[in-house]
Amino acid sequence: MRIVHAADYEDMSRKAANLIAAQVVMDPCCVLGLATGSTPIGTYQNLIKAYEAGDLDFSQVSTYNLDEYCGLSHDDPQSYHYFMKENLFDHINIDQANTHVPDGSNPDAEATCAEYDRIVEEAGYPDLQLLGIGNNGHIGFNEPDTCFSKGTHCVDLTESTIEANSRLFDNIEDVPRQAYTMGIHTIMNAYMVLVIANGEKKAQAVHDMCFGPIQPSCPASILQLHPNCVVIADDAALSLCK
Ligand code: GLP
Repeated sequence: MRIVHAADYEDMSRKAANLIAAQVVMDPCCVLGLATGSTPIGTYQNLIKAYEAGDLDFSQVSTYNLDEYCGLSHDDPQSYHYFMKENLFDHINIDQANTHVPDGSNPDAEATCAEYDRIVEEAGYPDLQLLGIGNNGHIGFNEPDTCFSKGTHCVDLTESTIEANSRLFDNIEDVPRQAYTMGIHTIMNAYMVLVIANGEKKAQAVHDMCFGPIQPSCPASILQLHPNCVVIADDAALSLCK
């Protein structure tokens, strides 16, 4: 694991966007694994700026998002599908037919997850997988558990994740209780993993991801075994790693 120290959120966002931009420049047909949450918004803004400056061409890039809430349609403003359009896809020249997010509106979990695994595998897995990290060490929506998950599956969200994510909903009752998420096996198949984290709320999770025992109670700790994982985190998020 390479740990890159960033001064603050803006610095983290610029550094992360630069790595993703390098990937797109080196391989214009690359496959990107993308994440949602507050953390990557600044990274996406920097990618949009680079596109607007004429430095990036997304026309042949394809993307696979990590996860989606169950029960939300694509045009629900709280869905991750909507988030990606708002924060990235609508502002760059990506072919939206090449963007993929698990279909949260399909109640058939088995079919939805199997289909998502099939298309990610067919694409050859991400060249670069961007990840945020939950306060409890979750990645995607792989919550702390007794074993590491494999492929895409339906998860029951923990109370701590529901509470953390409720800030983006009108009230906590509106937060879906389940989500479809790529599994750990799929994430570990990415050629490169880029984790971004900021703020002191993430300090324990970042410490456990980088230096704790590798165990499913901190799903992100498996990334210690990934051959090409870069963590870009700010001062506050790295405060327990000194
Ligand atoms: C959600 C997403 C994760 C994300 C996490 C942290 O649970 N499923 O992919 O990493 O939130 O979000 P934030 O970046 O808002 O702290």
